[in-house]
Amino acid sequence: MPLKPNWRRVASLAPLLIALLLAGCGNTSLNDITHTPNLLDPQGPIALKESNLFWGILIIATLVFVIVFSVLVYSIIKFRARPDSPEPTQTHGNTRIEIAWTIAPSVVLVGVLIGTIATMFSIQQPSTPNTITVNAVGHQWWWEFQYPDQHFVTADEMWVPTGTVVHINLVSDNVIHSFWVPQLTGKTDVIPGHDNSMWLQADTAGWYRGECAEFCGTQHAHMDFLVHAVPAADYQTWVSQQQQVAATPTDALALAGQKYFSSAACIGCHAINGVTTTDQSKLIGPNLTHFGGRQWIAGGVVSNTPANLAAWLRDPQAVKDGSDMPNLGLTQDQINELVAYLESLK
Ligand code: CUA
Repeated sequence: MPLKPNWRRVASLAPLLIALLLAGCGNTSLNDITHTPNLLDPQGPIALKESNLFWGILIIATLVFVIVFSVLVYSIIKFRARPDSPEPTQTHGNTRIEIAWTIAPSVVLVGVLIGTIATMFSIQQPSTPNTITVNAVGHQWWWEFQYPDQHFVTADEMWVPTGTVVHINLVSDNVIHSFWVPQLTGKTDVIPGHDNSMWLQADTAGWYRGECAEFCGTQHAHMDFLVHAVPAADYQTWVSQQQQVAATPTDALALAGQKYFSSAACIGCHAINGVTTTDQSKLIGPNLTHFGGRQWIAGGVVSNTPANLAAWLRDPQAVKDGSDMPNLGLTQDQINELVAYLESLK
């Protein structure tokens, strides 16, 4: 029996397919501060070269497509079989044509290869030495950002001065991740046991969304981060602020939160400088010293609002299934205190 597509059934799937496509377009858990990451909207030298290469190849490919299809369509119409038409001229084995259509595509492909290799070499090293260094550590599933020269650690967002080369060491002690900020730079793998590094530069101030681009487990899709490019003076202000230990809250509720945090299971995984004593490198959770100033919670799964934080503390697995943060069975009072405290840590 021949297989006939059931067009009615196929059509009935259309709304589902459209809904799935649209679902990829908007993520309500992310703040509106970033646009959808777009590699065709370059905001730094590497991304600019990569997007130029893309457009160059696209133009060549389009020209080839237009030429080949024009000739094809012309031939189909012009030389179509007619009732009394004679046998067409046979060109099989025509050496000249064989050579021509071997050489022509080779020339095009060699051109694309040269353009690609030249771009790869030109983005290998930055042209200016003016750098800051950041270690980007891939966890399952969030990014830790260490500023080794400035001696502080943050999570989920990385601030950089505009127009400055940022050297990034890529570190993982678990699985392979991939560090990608589409508007600033292409992807580089973060490989356990193999030190990798890259650089980027943001020419325009703004928030740029980064993503993990290598499947790394169930919450790979929620391993986003933010790059915030700011003018040098604002960057310095941010650095000085990050270097401060956590402020002691003045508000009674937040103070109770600090007391609870210091005595509860929280300190087994999280550091708050000035409050906890375990070294950050021995802890599996993000350093929360300036948590209140961050845009996102838990690798961008939700934006950092008191309501989202409360939901996260109440049942982390419901917010991000598979995360290392367990359900601590907190009471509503404890949640309120912790939210007041953590959000006060600007
Ligand atoms: Cu980390 Cu995907």
